[in-house]
Order: sequence, then C-alpha cells, then structure tokens
Amino acid sequence: MPSRNNFVVGPVFLFFCFTTIFGPKCIEGFRFLTPYSVPWVAAIQNVDLQNIDHDDMRALTEDCFQKCPIMVFKRQTECSAPDLLNLVSKFDPDCDIDALSSNQTVLHPFRSEPDAPHVAIREGNTKKKDLGDQFRFGPVWHMDLVGSKATTVPNVVSAFHFLQGPKVGGNTVFANLEIAYASFPPDIRQLVDSLQCVFDNDLNSLFNFRLDADGFTRLGPFPEDEESKDQVIRPLVQRDAVTGRKRFFFTPVRFNHFVGWDREASWEFMTYLFHTYINRPGNTASIEWEEGDIAIFNNHRLIHTSTPWELYKGEDRRFRLIFLNSKKMYSGSNPTSISGSVARGSSSASTGNFVARGKAETKDIQVVDPAPG
Ligand SMILES: [Fe+2]
Repeated sequence: MPSRNNFVVGPVFLFFCFTTIFGPKCIEGFRFLTPYSVPWVAAIQNVDLQNIDHDDMRALTEDCFQKCPIMVFKRQTECSAPDLLNLVSKFDPDCDIDALSSNQTVLHPFRSEPDAPHVAIREGNTKKKDLGDQFRFGPVWHMDLVGSKATTVPNVVSAFHFLQGPKVGGNTVFANLEIAYASFPPDIRQLVDSLQCVFDNDLNSLFNFRLDADGFTRLGPFPEDEESKDQVIRPLVQRDAVTGRKRFFFTPVRFNHFVGWDREASWEFMTYLFHTYINRPGNTASIEWEEGDIAIFNNHRLIHTSTPWELYKGEDRRFRLIFLNSKKMYSGSNPTSISGSVARGSSSASTGNFVARGKAETKDIQVVDPAPG
C-alpha cells in the first residue's frame, strides 16, 4: 500500500523535472518582443550573446529569423567587431566561410575595423560626412549589392551594430518585398515573373545617381551606350531560400530598364508598383537605433533606406556594417530557382527562367554600394 509521503514526493519530483527541462531554460534565456508597427521585426532583449546556449541560438537563427527577417538585439555595447562577424555568420547557413577568412573578398567599400576587415565603420556628422549629397534630404531605397557586377550572389544577410545613434533622425526604414509580391493581382504577378532587369555598374551611375523625391525613381545619369559592358541582367522575381516565397530582387539606384522595354515605361511601371504595393504604411517599419543595437536582416527579403542626413546633422551616427559573403542564392529544389550571374556579352545560354548573355567578369571591378544604412 503506498505511503502518504509518496503522494507528495511523486508530484513534486515530476514538477521539478518538467520545469527544469521545459520551463525556465527555454523561456528565460532572452525576451522576444515585436514592438514595431509590423510583426516581422523582432527585438531581442536580455540576451547574453557570448553565453547563449545552443538551443536558444538555434531557435533565433532558424525559427525566429525565418518569421522575422529583421532582428534587433538590444544593448549589445560590449560586442567586438570579430564577435559581431561571428554572430552574424550564424544567420546564413550558406555563408562563404572561405571568403570571410580572406581579406581579398571584402564586399563593403568602406573603412574596415582593424581586427575584422569584413566589418566596416560608417559615420556621419557635420564634420565627418562620408555620405554623398544624395542622402541629404530624402530616402535612398535599395537592396545591398543587388545588381552588382562584382558578386555573383549578393549578400543574403546584412548587419548593423550601432555604436552611437543620434537623438533625432537616423532611422532605417524597411519594406517587406514578399508581402508586396503576395498582394499583387494575378495579372501583375504573371507579368513581373517574366521580367529581366538591366542594372548599371559604371562609376558615373553609381557615384552620381539622382533619385526623385520618393527616394526610389532613378532620374539619372544613365550610361550613353545602350548596351554598356558594365551592365548585368538579373531576373526581377526570385523565390526566397528561407521561405520559398517569391519576391523582388531589385535595387533602384542601379536599375536602368527591363529587357525589351524602354526606360520610361520600365520606370513608370516600377514606380507604380513601389507606391501601390511596396511603400505602404502596413508594409513598412521605421526603426530608431539606440546605442548597442545589433540589427541582423535578410537583405533578399527586404528593401531599405536610411532617413535623410539633414535630420540628424551635427550629431554623430556611428555604426559597424557587414555584408556577409554568401555562397548560394537559393538552396531549394524548386525548378524556377535561380543560380549564376550574367553580364552583357555576345553568347547566350538559358538557366531555368533566366537568360544569360556571356559570363560575368569579376576581376578589376570595384565593389560599390551607396548605402548609408
Ligand atoms: Fe544598405
């Protein structure tokens, strides 16, 4: 016959086991918040990134990053540049480790951290402005390195680490390209699926670009040659490696026209899509940076811009920046997946829905990205 003590000890023992295995370890490791206007930006608080356990890190890099393509780790003031690179590399399972160990493959064109060349330092105030006038009064929407001739696979993951944020302004605004694509009517989806973008890579286009007031519509300059050797062709729509959903793969500051369309018609159509489906209040989030914030985001699923430099002039805005080298564009098995790179040339080849003209020449090409973050 069971003793009275067994009725007490048994449930207490089971409660202890349950709370130890399933309870505090999982829910007290960090605090997850979605404090922004959209559910796809996550803030992670109370996390010690140097001592986070394996299960929690895997939950953040796999499940959380799949649902929230922007993750902001709050108050990470002690993180060094090498630690930052190590952390960010965990968010792309296909990141190019060989490239990250080589100084020859640094994707950013800016001043590097001495102990981590792949980590750039960016800063802007009235005395030390390292940004062009394009960033002064309006937004500059872009995806990092998309349309670049220098890299076959633009970085999947980008990251910021804010060492100092201005009291006013200096936000980064993100728009979600998967949600925008999902909201297109079927006839627009069918049309955009067939389009190929011609992107410019000549230095005059990259350094002297002018945008309309919307920060999206490119006004020029455009290369005089109709088919410049510095152009590349990329499909407008791709299927995302993480979600399997389609989205644009587009950056306005390099875009010239669609193959088979004239430039005016190309821009009228893209500007219509931008104002109707992409840059909508329900599809954008403006993130105010605080000292110590680390933001890791999926560059292939979003388009982003900083707010105008004039709004925070006179105040320091200093941050580390990473474009994480990626090996793959897409690792899934979908037949319309995209691989490879294209530059203008004479020969033709077909890769899925992707028409290649010649081979990309990557030597002697300077990596340029105009992004202020
Ligand atoms: Fe950027």
